[in-house]
Amino acid sequence: MSVKFRLQDTQKSQTFQLKEVNLPKFAEPPKTHQNYSRNRKKIVAVASSGKGGTGKSTVAVQLAMLFQERNQRTVLVDMDIPHGDIATMLKLSDERCLTDWVGVPKNLNEHQIHNLLLNSANDLKVLPSIRAIEEQEKVNRPEFVRKLMDHLKIFDVIVVDTGPNLEPMTLEVLLLSTDILFVTELYEPALNNIYRGKEEFKKKNGDPHKINVIVNKMKKKSNGIYHSVQRLTGISNISFLPYVEKMPEMTDKGFFLALKKKNHPYVKTLLELVEDISPKVDQPLSLYPKRKGLFSWIGGR
Ligand SMILES: Nc1ncnc2c1ncn2[C@@H]1O[C@H](COP(=O)(O)OP(=O)(O)O)[C@@H](O)[C@H]1O
Ligand SMILES: [Mg+2]
Repeated sequence: MSVKFRLQDTQKSQTFQLKEVNLPKFAEPPKTHQNYSRNRKKIVAVASSGKGGTGKSTVAVQLAMLFQERNQRTVLVDMDIPHGDIATMLKLSDERCLTDWVGVPKNLNEHQIHNLLLNSANDLKVLPSIRAIEEQEKVNRPEFVRKLMDHLKIFDVIVVDTGPNLEPMTLEVLLLSTDILFVTELYEPALNNIYRGKEEFKKKNGDPHKINVIVNKMKKKSNGIYHSVQRLTGISNISFLPYVEKMPEMTDKGFFLALKKKNHPYVKTLLELVEDISPKVDQPLSLYPKRKGLFSWIGGR
């Protein structure tokens, strides 16, 4: 099957063609979700302080899974160019990736948008990073990021695994985000880097209040850590994730820590973040649970 889009707003009419793919791998249009709320979109950028291997992608995947499970229509986007590895982590193909979005028209419908994404466990939609280094200049542009994010606003939550440096793509997605999570390990140079990153972001008119720090791979807790992290980063929203001895491998249909072990301390901390970040829907009064036992004392009960 091939899908053709005509670009109508350019002088030369171009044709945008998707390569042949097997239909079953296409992302299906979403099911209806209870909490669907058009006006409270969330863009959650998972960032790091320059160093690789801090656990950024793991956090991005697990968070996206948890949002999706909470009935938020969620898409996970890998913008860690050129070395994004979400597709590899989730054992997904690269039949769709960021580069396929270059040159798409502004007015894609929901079905076309879903056809440009991949499907993972629990119906989570995923957009892998680029396939080759040479493709990065096509996507590393603010206008590309703006258009992509605009299309993806059919979702309630967009979770983005960002690149480590404040290059055009990363900066634009951080500016557009509602929440930024800096994943780091507990060591001073990394925390200093987060401070520097925050200051640079402020200079580019970014709002520092939406930045959170996640200190990952904590082997033991000790008094005063919160204050040290706060002092070094200049950020007060701080979460701690424990070191997980055998971090399970993730696959598209296989084991997801977030889905299988709700009582695991790692998952519990992420759940608190999800609770904080989730789009809030004003419930109509009738949906509130009826108060039980208001007069239950009558009759001695
Ligand atoms: N809390 C944790 N405890 C132990 N290992 C972890 C933890 N978080 C991530 N890891 C491991 O660290 C490695 C790097 O994680 P990854 O998410 O790929 O980092 P990044 O995206 O920042 O490069 C992986 O092997 C992952 O399983
Ligand atoms: Mg990564």
